[in-house]
Amino acid sequence: MTDTFEIKVNKVAESRLPSVNFDNMVFGTVYSDHMFVADYTDGEWKDFRVEPYAPLSLLPGSAILHYGQSVFEGLKAYRTAEGDIQVFRPDANAKRLNVSAERMCMPDVPEELFMAGLEKLMEVDKDWVPNKPETSLYIRPFVFAMDEYIGIRPSANYRFIIFTCPVGAYYSEPVRVKIETEYTRACPGGTGFAKAAGNYAGSLYPAKKAQEQGYQQLIWTDAVTHEYVEESGTMNLMFVIDGKLMTASTGDTILDGITRNSVLALAKEWGMEIVEGKIAIKDIIKAAEEGRLQEAFGTGTAATIAQIATIGYEGKDYDLPAVAEREFSNKVLKTLDDIKYGRQEDNHGWIRRM
Ligand code: COI
Repeated sequence: MTDTFEIKVNKVAESRLPSVNFDNMVFGTVYSDHMFVADYTDGEWKDFRVEPYAPLSLLPGSAILHYGQSVFEGLKAYRTAEGDIQVFRPDANAKRLNVSAERMCMPDVPEELFMAGLEKLMEVDKDWVPNKPETSLYIRPFVFAMDEYIGIRPSANYRFIIFTCPVGAYYSEPVRVKIETEYTRACPGGTGFAKAAGNYAGSLYPAKKAQEQGYQQLIWTDAVTHEYVEESGTMNLMFVIDGKLMTASTGDTILDGITRNSVLALAKEWGMEIVEGKIAIKDIIKAAEEGRLQEAFGTGTAATIAQIATIGYEGKDYDLPAVAEREFSNKVLKTLDDIKYGRQEDNHGWIRRM
């Protein structure tokens, strides 16, 4: 694949790898040596290169700094016991990047270019894929506007970058989440389904308020009634009630999560009853009060399967059963990990060896 695109490689003089403590990696704070870069000018992607991970030079009038025309992805590479490198569902990320790009009026990144850039970067930085339990290499592809122009219009020039970070767990323990009924993350017809930078910026203030009240995350509700579950800031949400797996159906306000999709595929194969639709907050709370809410968890690339310990709603906290008792989410986490780390055969076509 990499042969189709001529990718120039300019390696660092000295790797930063020896200075990394792989036993203590706070998510998103350690960056690998290189990044893949491509530029979009005159209507086409060109100048493909792998170069040292380094500061970018932007003029103050750069549109990206003012209007946030930027979309991103998140995926991970895993080291198998044999030392091979496996990336989980990169094709799905490449497709979703373009779904986001279309909504933000940005050009497609051809899937072949996405994959060629990723493969070349993984070849150059393969030693950065950690091998300790529960670690991986987080991969962040993103595209952003490059025009120097402060009028409002879609940029004519863009940059596509992929960089990587060795990471451990995003959440080190089960999270306390608050059901948000005042602020809104996304509204019908908006950009909620896109992995667009601005969606995350707008979520910070309500999340900060929840953090001040002792919660790590929010459960966003629909913009119109605040009565239905949407997603969390960093993950999709799932609940097990009376043995049924329940999750909000994705639409224009919810990210079409790749981990979400993988969990649903496994649940379906295991014959679990799945309810994918509108999930009413009142049903979640009633089930919690009656002891029928067996499991609640988030799904996401960074978060993987993040257990929810407590749900806060209208000033009251609802504690969920101990994580050890949660049959489905423990099983699905183990199965996904076994596939990602090569301990179980991948019969879904999810793994791409690099
Ligand atoms: C991911 O899970 O990859 C995400 O993009 C969530 C995040 C904002 C860290």
